[in-house]
Formats: sequence, structure tokens, C-alpha cells
Amino acid sequence: MQCFETQVDLQAHLAQVRHSGKTVGLVPTMGNLHAGHLSLVDAARAQSDYVLATIFVNPMQFGPEEDLDNYPRTLEDDLQKLEEKSCDGVFIPPVAEMYPGGLENQTLVTVPGLSERHCGASRPVHFGGVCTVVCKLFNLTQPDLAFFGEKDYQQLQIIRKMTADLCLPVNIIGVPTVRLPSGLAMSSRNNYLDKDQLEIAPVLQATLQSTAEMLSQGRKDFDGLQAEAQNTLQENGLKVDYFTICHAQTLEPATERDKSLVILAAAWLGPTRLIDNIRVVFD
Ligand code: PAJ
Repeated sequence: MQCFETQVDLQAHLAQVRHSGKTVGLVPTMGNLHAGHLSLVDAARAQSDYVLATIFVNPMQFGPEEDLDNYPRTLEDDLQKLEEKSCDGVFIPPVAEMYPGGLENQTLVTVPGLSERHCGASRPVHFGGVCTVVCKLFNLTQPDLAFFGEKDYQQLQIIRKMTADLCLPVNIIGVPTVRLPSGLAMSSRNNYLDKDQLEIAPVLQATLQSTAEMLSQGRKDFDGLQAEAQNTLQENGLKVDYFTICHAQTLEPATERDKSLVILAAAWLGPTRLIDNIRVVFD
């Protein structure tokens, strides 16, 4: 596995890869890799000739009060895991390589509407930062395919829309969420949870599941279902940011006519913000 720190080195190498007729699959990450990230590498390995991972803790997607400085950085470990997954290359740019002019005057890529709801409402700069860095990574690496987790469902939908709206020639592949046996979605932020919190956290997925079941059984009182779920989470000590039954593509509040839904949820457990979701599809 080859490591690249500069755009020039990476692009020279990728030119050779493409010249030999290989397809490139891109897996963007912020590192601290766990089985969820590695499932994206597996999917990329299965669908592309050359697998390129990126590890970049993107300062542009963190708000001023967020955990940029404390975000777990475990490069040695990450490289070993990628090597074991037969990843071909990894791009690990320093911040100045991605933002040579600083963040202040960086051109911003925004997806209106979709980025303003849910996580975007409580993290106003977040998705602009995500779209900007992902767009830069797409232009730099020109992948055939790019892999993103369904765990960050809103992020996945926003990236799909950005790619379509800007006519970026990249095929976006969504990969199912990898979970612990308890049902808790794997996340780098789970590192912040103590032993007691790790026992409580699975209630988020359990509540999503029971709400999904009630929807499948025909309940249509979305407000009532949301209120019940929020109560359950609060009773278990979580502070709910949102728990919303949505249209699966627009992420607008669901209507009774919608056949394809997603329930999106975010809640605080102590200082840690957990997110998760579940799809509900009617025949
Ligand atoms: P990060 O949180 O490191 O996640 C990298 C990718 O791994 C994302 O596509 C995310 O959805 C996926 N992922 C995380 N946990 C997962 C799980 N349990 N199962 C499956 N996939 C999972 O998301 C980001 O980084 C950044 O916003 C990024 C897209 C890299 C832009 O900076």
C-alpha cells in the first residue's frame, strides 16, 4: 500500500493507474478506522480495481464548539488496518495541502435545503465543510466510484445531490451500517462513551426499530410516534436533538402518501452526540 501526502504525488500515481485501464474506488474518511469504515473498503475492493482511502480530519466541517482538537487520531493503527484490507493507496494530506489559502477564503460548496435540516440545523457549518472537502477529493482523485456509509444517511443524500447537481462523473455507492452486537452503530465518537453509557446507547437503534415496526403495522400518526420515541429516549437519559420520520430522498417530513421513508435520529448521551437511522419501505 502506498501513502501519499501531496496532491502532486497522488495525481502522478493515479495517472499511471488510470493509464493501465484500472477503475478507481475512493473511500473518504477522517481516520480512527473501525469495522464500519473497513466495510467501505471491502465494498470498494469488490467493485473497483484500485482502492484509494483518504484520511483527513477536515477542519472545515467542525463548528467552533465541536471536537476538532480532540477528534481521535490513530494513523499507525489505521494504516495497518487498511493494509490488511488490501487497500492499494492512502492519501493523508496535511491541512495546508487541502487548504493552502487557509479556511477563511476557501470556496464553499453547499447543497441548499437538504443541508439545512436535521444535523444541519444544529451543526450549521457542517455539511458545507463536508461537501467542499468531498468535492475537492473527487476533483483531485477523479474516482469512478466513491463509497459512503448509510450510517450518515443525511450526508449520503447530500453527497448524492451535490454529485448530480454539479455533474461530477462519480458513481456514489451507499454501504449498510455496521453495528456492534448491541445494535449500536459503530462510530469513532463511541470512543467518548464510558461503560455505563455504552450500555444505554443501543436504546437509540432499539427505539428506531420499534418505531419502524409500528409504521410497518400501519400507524400514520407521525407526530405521535415521534413524541413517544422522544419520551423513551429521554427516559433513558438521552437528550434528543431530533427524531424525525422523513421522506427517504428529500428528507422532508413524511406524508401519508410516501412509500419510502427513513427515520433520522440524533441524541446526546452526556457530551457525546450519537446519530442513527432506519429505512421503512411500503410495498
Ligand atoms: P468518517 O466519520 O470518518 O466516516 C467515513 C465514512 O465511513 C463515511 O462515509 C461514514 O458514513 C462511514 N461510516 C462511519 N461509520 C460507519 C458504520 N458504522 N457503518 C458503515 N459506514 C460507516 O463521514 C466522514 O468521515 C466525513 O464527513 C467525510 C465524508 C470523510 C468528509 O470529511
